[in-house]
Order: sequence, then structure tokens, then C-alpha cells
Amino acid sequence: MSHFLDINTTDPAALRAMIDQARAMKDARRGQPKGASDADQPLAGRMVALIFEKPSTRTRVSFDVGARQLGGQTMVLSGSDMQLGHGETIADTARVLSRYVDLIMIRTFEEATLLEMAEYASVPVINGLTNRTHPCQIMADVLTYEEHRGPIRGRKVVWTGDGNNVCASFIHAAGQFGFDFTFTGPPTLDPEPGFMEEARQKGVTAVIERDPAKAVDGADLVVTDTWVSMHDPQSARERRHNQLRPYQVNEALMARAKPDALFMHCLPAHRDDEATSAVMDGPNSVIFDEAENRLHAQKAIMRWCLGI
Ligand code: CP
Ligand code: NVA
Repeated sequence: MSHFLDINTTDPAALRAMIDQARAMKDARRGQPKGASDADQPLAGRMVALIFEKPSTRTRVSFDVGARQLGGQTMVLSGSDMQLGHGETIADTARVLSRYVDLIMIRTFEEATLLEMAEYASVPVINGLTNRTHPCQIMADVLTYEEHRGPIRGRKVVWTGDGNNVCASFIHAAGQFGFDFTFTGPPTLDPEPGFMEEARQKGVTAVIERDPAKAVDGADLVVTDTWVSMHDPQSARERRHNQLRPYQVNEALMARAKPDALFMHCLPAHRDDEATSAVMDGPNSVIFDEAENRLHAQKAIMRWCLGI
């Protein structure tokens, strides 16, 4: 049994195997209806709990569909409807759920909630996003990059905007998959320095460049995300918009990257804030492939967690 809590704490060989298996499972389904069962049914007889303490479209639907394609059953639980949201401890919730289900995916606020769930559950726990990281998203993004452009090792990835949870998992992936990472954004929204240092110690370049045009110079992949995340106070909205506007991904910025550079955004997006519609719908954008690949990547993650 293995928890999937973060990319930096998962063995690089295991991460690589998950990406390769995701790609093989995706290939094997080509031409099938979305609801068709996979030829292999490794989750047959298994129950998956999907807990959400924050809103979700992609994570919710892709985990639910993915578990079913693998032959499993699912239940989607809202944190606020559970006793968890009314004072029952995370530890007790973890121990109770472990008596009913074979796998738990949780989207929550504090990372401590995820870690406590993993500590007390006797079944695998998957991180479906915390305030700090979003590893499932970046597994899908690595799969997406490699489908379009081949190995991500040695490439230059540029993150522009808020150094948030999705950015953190991209930095983790830089160290584990061996690509170079540049952050460009205002100093108040820098990613955690420890994450950048950890990537450097794994032998890749991880740098901050305040000038977005210089940062994107020669990029193979340009990535951004919403300027205000679900855990950010709405009162921060106006200040963040003012701070982040210079880091918008528009056609002028993309023109500084390599001509075949890809553009990614985990979605949901605020069109014409962090990225223009011209870029989001342009020839370099792979945003909907990323969304689809959540499904394939997470099927491989669930199989790895259960060792099946
Ligand atoms: N990208 C992502 O995790 O989307 P949802 O919030 O819709 O799950
Ligand atoms: N950074 C965003 C990602 C949403 C998928 C948030 O946490 O709201």
C-alpha cells in the first residue's frame, strides 16, 4: 500500500512508471466510448471515496470516471456534509473510512489534514489538492507534455504568475523528472524557497527571473494558473490583479518562447486575466489535453497506490 501525497516524496522510478502506464492505458482506450470498461479491471470489487472540502470539476469527474473504467465503484463525499465538517477528528474519520473503502482521495485546505488522514488511514490516501500542492495535476501535465513533444527531461519550463500550489508541484516535478524551471512573478508571491532549493539539489536549474519576457526566452513550456486560488481571501483579489497583470500570458509573451513551446493551464481559468483567450485557444495551447489526461494519469496513480 502506498499513499500518493506529493511528487517530491514519491520515488522517481515509480513516477516514470505511472506516466508510462497512463499513456499505455490511454492508447488502449482509443475509439472507445467514455463509459466503456477497460480490458483490465484491476479495481473490480474495490470502493473509492472521493472527499471534497473545496469545489472541483476536473478532479471530481476524472477520478470518478477513472475508477469506474478500471472496474471500481466510487462515492463522492462533500466535507461539509460529513461529520468531519462538524467536529469529528480527521484521525477518527480516516480510521472509520478505512473500514468501508479501499482508497481515499481528498481535496482539502491545510496540508496537515491530508497528512493526518494518511497517518491514520489503513488504506492508501491520494492528495487531490491542498493549499500547498496539487500533484495529480502535474502528473497529467508531464504526460501531456511528453505526448506532444517527447521527453520532458532537460526542457525549460517557465511558470508565470502566482507561486501557488500548482506551481509547487511543478517545482517538485522538475527535480524528479529532470527539467529546468524558471519562476516569474512578483516577490510577494514567490514559491517556497525550500522547494526551489530541493529541485537544485536534484541537479536541475530552478531560478527566479522578475522580467517575464526574459524569463520566457527560449521556453519549451509556459504555464500559469489563476491569480486568486480557492484558499486565498477574496479581499486579496484587487491587489493581486494589480501585481500580476504584468505576468499575463498573451501572444506577445508567448512570442518570446520557442516557436513550438506549449502553453498549459490547469483550469479553471479566468480568461483574459492570467492568460488571454488568444493564447488559451491558440495553436500552442494544450489545456484541454491536460484536463483529459487527469483521467489517465490518476488511473495509473490509483493502480500504483493499490499495487495492482
Ligand atoms: N485542475 C483542477 O484540479 O480542476 P478542478 O478544481 O475542477 O478539480
Ligand atoms: N491554484 C488553484 C488550482 C485549482 C485547480 C486553486 O488552488 O484554487
